[in-house]
Amino acid sequence: MKTVYVGMSADLVHPGHLNVLMKAQELGEVTVGLLTDEAIASYKRVPFMEFEQRQQVIENIKGVSKVIPQTTLDYVPNLEAMKPDYVVHGDDWKNGVQRQTRQRVIDTLAQWGGELVEVPYTKGISSTQLNKALKEIGTTPELRLKSLRRMLKVKPLLRFLDIHNALSGLIIENTTIDTPDGKREFDGMWGSSLTDSTAKGKPDIEAVDVSARMTTLNEVLEVTTKPIIYDADTGGQTEHFKFTVKTLERHGVSAAIIEDKTGLKKNSLFGNDVAQTQDTIEGFCHKIREGKKAQTTDDFMIIARIESLILEKGVDDAFTRAKAYLEAGADGIMIHSRQKDPAEIFEFCRLYNTLDDRKPLVAVPSSYNTVTEEELQEHGVNVVIYANQLLRSAYPAMMKTAKSILEHHRSAECDADMLPIKDILELIPGTR
Ligand code: SPV
Ligand code: MG
Repeated sequence: MKTVYVGMSADLVHPGHLNVLMKAQELGEVTVGLLTDEAIASYKRVPFMEFEQRQQVIENIKGVSKVIPQTTLDYVPNLEAMKPDYVVHGDDWKNGVQRQTRQRVIDTLAQWGGELVEVPYTKGISSTQLNKALKEIGTTPELRLKSLRRMLKVKPLLRFLDIHNALSGLIIENTTIDTPDGKREFDGMWGSSLTDSTAKGKPDIEAVDVSARMTTLNEVLEVTTKPIIYDADTGGQTEHFKFTVKTLERHGVSAAIIEDKTGLKKNSLFGNDVAQTQDTIEGFCHKIREGKKAQTTDDFMIIARIESLILEKGVDDAFTRAKAYLEAGADGIMIHSRQKDPAEIFEFCRLYNTLDDRKPLVAVPSSYNTVTEEELQEHGVNVVIYANQLLRSAYPAMMKTAKSILEHHRSAECDADMLPIKDILELIPGTR
């Protein structure tokens, strides 16, 4: 009997998949190379179902003899190991991201006289459509909460951007660009205290209380599905922080980051230009422990933010604190810096990477903004947060419009800089 190989993600199985499998079955004994979560995440979003769940579905489809993992988007390693007579695939991969993958399949099969058989694309249904429909249905707090840990497991670097209202959430939810390596998008949202406070016209000193911050979060939660990391400032009094943890969890927020400062919090980007007091290691560890005890799920994360570099106390102090905070139960570390140069961040990364119990590392390159995501990833950073860029870009654009109207006594001069009226009417589905 001839052997047949079919590579697939099989996240949302539909008749298109079954057509491919039926063709494969006609040709011989079918092995499905099921893409691992990591392989899928390397070129598109993390699948809804985990590998084991997808495996269970595919294994039970008539005519499938075996399911093996395919750990890369590239088929070649599995093909070389199995040397199948046929590979069967839908014909929709001739263009776009998978074009080169397809060519490599053809070239590899040619080495032993194997053949690629392509099944015409099944009209009327596609994973892209199903994904879109699922997004419109929305998510649940539980699924959203878990999604950050899942992403951290399968993606080397996550990209977050600031929210301060529902519209900023929609931008993060929906903005994508096509690249030769697949679609690129933001993985989630940063509930920044700076941009949330600023959007409310208040200083970033914990004056906007948790209830008001939750109002913003609720707006965003209502129209998005991606995970949220919440900037919990200092966490406030430990007794209060315990309630914040429960509130965030109940709403499906994935993580809170608390910074190791006490007293009246001032924004870190001031550094020592304003009076700021760092908590003692013992004091902050106590807050982490109490926060961890307060959570009701295993999925919620409390990430400890270290302010030693902001307060010019040096990398060694930061590293000592990182060890203590992880020991106290922190699920990750955020290291912050206000230098233009990432040298001190990289030095911290070097030390941090020596830890056996290393947990995810978060960086916020607001000041050292020439550093690329690739460089951060190379140094072991797992989450990069663009903490304020959306609000910082909106404000000058709005100021420019306001001034232009004042200057010209009308809005015609700034019209070209603005979203056309037709487009604002179309922007939010359901407006018509
Ligand atoms: C925020 O976005 O509110 C932050 C990051 O905490 S920073 O403003 O750099 O302190
Ligand atoms: Mg903040």
